[in-house]
Amino acid sequence: MFAVQFDRFGSPEVLFLGSLPEPHAGQGEVRVRVRAAGVSPVDVGLRAGRSPASKKLALPHIPGVDAAGVVDEVGPGVTGTAVGDEVFGAVDVSRLGGASAEFAVLAFWAAKPASMPWEEAGASGTSVETATRVLDLLDVREGTTLLIDGAAGGVGSVAVQLAVARGARVIGTGSPANQAFLASLGAIPTVYGQGLPERVRALHDGRVDLALDLAGAGSLAELVAITGSAASVVTIADFTASHHGVRLSRGELGGEPTGRHGLAAAAALFEEGRFRLPLQEVFSLAQAPRAHELAAGGPRQGKIALAVPPVLTTPAA
Ligand SMILES: NC(=O)c1ccc[n+]([C@@H]2O[C@H](COP(=O)([O-])OP(=O)(O)OC[C@H]3O[C@@H](n4cnc5c(N)ncnc54)[C@H](OP(=O)(O)O)[C@@H]3O)[C@@H](O)[C@H]2O)c1
Repeated sequence: MFAVQFDRFGSPEVLFLGSLPEPHAGQGEVRVRVRAAGVSPVDVGLRAGRSPASKKLALPHIPGVDAAGVVDEVGPGVTGTAVGDEVFGAVDVSRLGGASAEFAVLAFWAAKPASMPWEEAGASGTSVETATRVLDLLDVREGTTLLIDGAAGGVGSVAVQLAVARGARVIGTGSPANQAFLASLGAIPTVYGQGLPERVRALHDGRVDLALDLAGAGSLAELVAITGSAASVVTIADFTASHHGVRLSRGELGGEPTGRHGLAAAAALFEEGRFRLPLQEVFSLAQAPRAHELAAGGPRQGKIALAVPPVLTTPAA
């Protein structure tokens, strides 16, 4: 099969489109013919050799964990999904990749709404799982006031919408350029960085119940001060969390309850017009190096996707 891959760590130029053996669906898995895959900052760190997990990779490695496509193989133990179904989801995240290829094996998935664009679906899986998991951990519900630091990125843009759908009032931080974008997702926008407690007080004169750090930019002490309790704060990206008494959510890699159920919930919200996966840019598989360059940093508005064209078949004579 064709696959984006790298056989040495380095800059985005180590990525190339080449041929690799096809994977097959194992117990509880499905294989899809991929129509779109996601690109995340995590993939960039793994490829660069900067991530502590890079040393776990067997090379060549296919980057990306999120994909959407048409099921073409159903593994043992799978019920409710059949060959030909259109689904979106993610690979077993402990494999750290495998999505940006002609075929990918998904460990969790949901039915893709017919009107959801492939690129949105393909880039959704782990952002929706992560956002759902941390909203569950904090028990975000109707009437909660939630502060999200780093609300415009892949996980943030999903977390804002899912929290709003739960009936929460969401204050979201972003760069000055992202304020209108955050408001379009349903957040009360403000900028991140120094002086956050004062800005939040000016926007909201009641209590801020809970806070989520999705950026790992060093704001945990301020988030604890704003909510009044370390137990009310969760981070997914700040490894100094324990110094602040704050929970660091690592998901299934950390043995936590999963947010996989969020995929079907997000699909239902999409059909009601209450959820979309914002896409900053869509690239072809051959443009994977450019996608990785963009994912490495800089202003972010949602996700980056790789589109895979449908296979052209000759109509029967
Ligand atoms: N633990 C887990 O389960 C898990 C799962 C997925 C991801 N992650 C980690 O979570 C982080 C976010 O992932 P992502 O995919 O959402 O990344 P992303 O799409 O690159 O988004 C990062 C966001 O951080 C914001 N940001 C930049 N500087 C900031 C600052 N000083 N203060 C507050 N926010 C700032 C950016 O806002 P602007 O664009 O407005 O500048 C951007 O929206 C990454 O570190 C990733 O490795 C962890």
